[in-house]
Amino acid sequence: GEDRLRDSFGRAITDLRVSVTDRCNYRCVYCRTGNEGALYTELASRDYLRMIRLFVSLGVEKIRLTGGEPLLRAGLVEMVEEIAGMRTAFAPDGSRTPNGAPLDIALTTNGHLLEGLAAPLKAAGLNRITVSMDAVDSETFTAITRVPRSFDRVLAGIRAATAAGLGPVKVNCVLLRGFNDHQIEQFAEFSRREGVIMRFIEWMPLEEASDAPGARNWNKETVVTLDEIVARLNAWRPLVPLPANAASETARRYTFDDGVGEIGIIAPVSRPFCGHCSRIRLTSDGKIRTCLFSQTDHDLEGRMARGASDAELVAYIRQVVMRKEARHHIGEAGFEKPSRSMVHIGG
Ligand code: GTP
Ligand code: 5AD
Ligand code: SF4
Repeated sequence: GEDRLRDSFGRAITDLRVSVTDRCNYRCVYCRTGNEGALYTELASRDYLRMIRLFVSLGVEKIRLTGGEPLLRAGLVEMVEEIAGMRTAFAPDGSRTPNGAPLDIALTTNGHLLEGLAAPLKAAGLNRITVSMDAVDSETFTAITRVPRSFDRVLAGIRAATAAGLGPVKVNCVLLRGFNDHQIEQFAEFSRREGVIMRFIEWMPLEEASDAPGARNWNKETVVTLDEIVARLNAWRPLVPLPANAASETARRYTFDDGVGEIGIIAPVSRPFCGHCSRIRLTSDGKIRTCLFSQTDHDLEGRMARGASDAELVAYIRQVVMRKEARHHIGEAGFEKPSRSMVHIGG
């Protein structure tokens, strides 16, 4: 049919997240615990681009490039340039728009290689950037990422992105009890000082299984919850809630009583937001994942490699999307982590 992509619950799928590599130059304690299960498989740019074009033809309006660490990919700037040439396929009223609006193109990075790439990415057509930064000082930062002398580079990357016009930059922090939760107020200060949107994320069970020393395996007690974060910030300086930008937004937004700074709290564990989910993912090796916690790989890449036509691939995508899960089951009896970790699936 000519309709835009919808799942069996009627949710419109408008947001595609692509892991363009499963390589990463960090080894964060909560994510890549030691390279177990690394595939180091990534597709050629033209293959990701063909997939993205198919999703765009079905109504996807927002592309987020992620990983792994996407800035490790050769040819990333050129890939952004190609995506920037694509146009949305549907108007808000659901009608076909052959010459529709430009896509919203965003990137999630750890920032280590960002300083030199911010301006070229902006020139290529990137709209927005999210930088992961799990500490506000070098020592804590190194303890989490296990890469020395990187903190100053990330800071420079955030500033370069702001200067290049990619702002307001979103800064993601996964709070881990006992590691960085003592810095909540300093992160808020960072948002106010640097003009970035500071987002705290509840830790989800997505890490690679590992018994390696230093590895942190998920448990509920380690999760710093939204209620806790709000209480801590309020005690420091009164928070004022901000209205949501969109129904499918992951973050609850706040500012402070003087309007300076923006805080987002992403609470998939204590306040799941699956009911309004608009997201679908492409893994670094070209499989469709219908949910972050899906146990199934849908092999788009294999069908493409065997010579399927665009029409056949579109039909396949529609069928796969109908199998999108209602929600995740974190913390419930019988919950199992997805068979693959965050670097493959894409944040
Ligand atoms: P924009 O709205 O485009 O700015 O993106 P975003 O708010 O989704 O931000 P981002 O891509 O940085 O995602 C932030 C974090 O939210 C991710 O790293 C995940 O930890 C979490 N997240 C994003 N999407 C989902 C999702 O579909 N399900 C769950 N459970 N968590 C998600
Ligand atoms: N839970 C929540 N967020 C995670 N991220 C990586 N692993 C997890 C997890 N288990 C975050 C990273 C980055 C984004 C891509 O996802 O810190 O900000
Ligand atoms: Fe969507 Fe799955 Fe994330 Fe829920 S857990 S918001 S259904 S991707």
